[in-house]
Amino acid sequence: NLYNEPFRPQLHFSPKAHWMNDPNGMVYFNHTYHLFFQYYPGGTVWGPMHWGHAISKDLVHWQQLPIALYPDSLGYIFSGSAVVDSNNTSGFGKNGKIPLVAIFTHHDPKGERAGTDNFQNESIAYSLDEGRTWTKYSGNPVLKNPGIRDFRDPKVMWYAKDKKWVMTLATKDHITFYSSRDLKTWAKESEFGKEIGAHGGVWECPDLFPLKLNGKQYWVLVVNLNPGGPNGGSATQYFVGQFDGEQFVPVDDQIKWLDYGPDEYAGITWNNTGSRKIFLGWMSNWSYATQVPTASWRSAMTIPRDLKLISIDGNILLTSMPVKAILKLKQQPILAGNVHVKKIYAGNTKASTTAGRYLLDLQTNSLNDFALELANSNNEKLIIGFDKNANQYFIDRTKAGVHDFNKDFAGIFKAPRFVANKSVKLTLVVDRASVEIFADGGATVMTCIFFTEKPLNKVSILSDSAIRIKSLSIAGLKSIW
Ligand code: FRU
Repeated sequence: NLYNEPFRPQLHFSPKAHWMNDPNGMVYFNHTYHLFFQYYPGGTVWGPMHWGHAISKDLVHWQQLPIALYPDSLGYIFSGSAVVDSNNTSGFGKNGKIPLVAIFTHHDPKGERAGTDNFQNESIAYSLDEGRTWTKYSGNPVLKNPGIRDFRDPKVMWYAKDKKWVMTLATKDHITFYSSRDLKTWAKESEFGKEIGAHGGVWECPDLFPLKLNGKQYWVLVVNLNPGGPNGGSATQYFVGQFDGEQFVPVDDQIKWLDYGPDEYAGITWNNTGSRKIFLGWMSNWSYATQVPTASWRSAMTIPRDLKLISIDGNILLTSMPVKAILKLKQQPILAGNVHVKKIYAGNTKASTTAGRYLLDLQTNSLNDFALELANSNNEKLIIGFDKNANQYFIDRTKAGVHDFNKDFAGIFKAPRFVANKSVKLTLVVDRASVEIFADGGATVMTCIFFTEKPLNKVSILSDSAIRIKSLSIAGLKSIW
C-alpha cells in the first residue's frame, strides 16, 4: 500500500505524489468514470499545469494513470471538460471509433507576465483510446479571448434539442455561453450573472445541467467563486433556473451554496451519465491549499455525490448525498437506538476499531442543541453540531490538530439549516483527515479537512439540554487502496 503516509485519505482520491487541484474532464465512457485533474508533477505546490488522469469502475476505487495532457507552446493546461462525441461532429473519430474530446483553457504564462489581457484561450484535444493518449487539435485555440483576463474553465455539454454543443465559460465576474456544431467553431450566445449571485471574488469552473423536480425540468448553473465563500476563501455557489439553448434565466435571486464548508472547491459534475448527476470537488481551499502539512502529495477530492432538487416552501434547493457505491466499503456497524443524552453520551468506544474512517448516521428525536465530538487519545477534537437558536450547523476545528501553517485554517464554520423537520438527520463521511457532513438529506452540506496527529476514533455526543437520539450508526469503512 503506497497510500499509507500520515494524513493520507483512505476513501478519497488523491494523487500518488505531487500537487493536485481542480477535477477536470469528468466523463463516463465505456463503463468507466474518468477523472482528470489539475496536476503539477514537478512539486507539491501549484506550478505549470498538466491534466493528471485516474479511472474508476464504481466511483469508489481509483487507479491513477499516466499524465494525459502536457503544457505546450500555447501555455499551461488549465481546467476544462471532456465529452463523448458519439456522432463524430468533430470529425476526429476514425474507423468507427468514437472520440473523447477535451475542451480546456490554454493559459499562456508569457502573456500573463507581459501584462496582456488575452492570455487565456480555449483549446481542444481528442483521444481514440479511452483517454490514454491525446492529440491536440492543429487549429487551437478554438475560442479566442476577446480581452478578458479571466476567461477560462469551459464546461461543454450536448444540447440535444438544437443538436449543438453548449459551452459554459467563466468570464471574470459572469458566465458567457457559447455554442458549436463541431466543437471547433464557437459562437457567443449570451451572458449571465453580472448583477446576481455572490461576487466576493473571480467566477471560475462553472457547470450547467438539467435536473427534474416532480417531473418538471429545471437547469442548474454551478459557479465556483474564489475568494468570497460563505466561510472564507473558495466555495461553490449555484443557481436554479431555465435554459433554452441560448440563455439562462434564474427562478429567484437568492445566493445558494452547494457546500458551506471551507474545503470543497471547483466542484462540477460528470458528463454522459444520463439523468443522474454526480458531483465531485477538490477538497481544499485556495486560502491555504499550498501550505497544508502533507509531505509528498497535496490534496484529495471529495466523495462523489448524487445531486437532486428539492423544494421547501417553494424555494428550490440542490441537495447532495454521497454516492451509494461507498456503502460497499462498510464494515459491521456499531448501533445505538433510543439514547437519552443528558450531558454526555460517551459513544461506544468500539469506534476505535474504525481507524478513524467511518460512516456515521444519526437521527435525533427532537430539535435541541447538540454536538458530536470526534476525538482521539491526544485530546485533539473536531466538533460538529447544531445550534437551535441560530438554526445553524457548525464545525469547530480550532482544536483539531495542526493549524499553525496558516492563520485562516483554525476556525468555526457555520451553515444554515433549511428544512423545518422536528428532527435532525446527519450523515458523516469521516476519513483520516477530512469530514463531509450531509445534513437533512443533503440540504446542508459541509466539507472540512483537518490534520490531527492520530485518527479521530472516539465519538461522543454532547448536549446541554436533554436530547433523544433516535438512532446512531457508526460503520468503519475499508480502505480503497
Ligand atoms: C480554480 C482554477 C481555475 C483554473 C485552475 C488553474 O481552482 O483557478 O480557474 O483553470 O484553477 O489550475
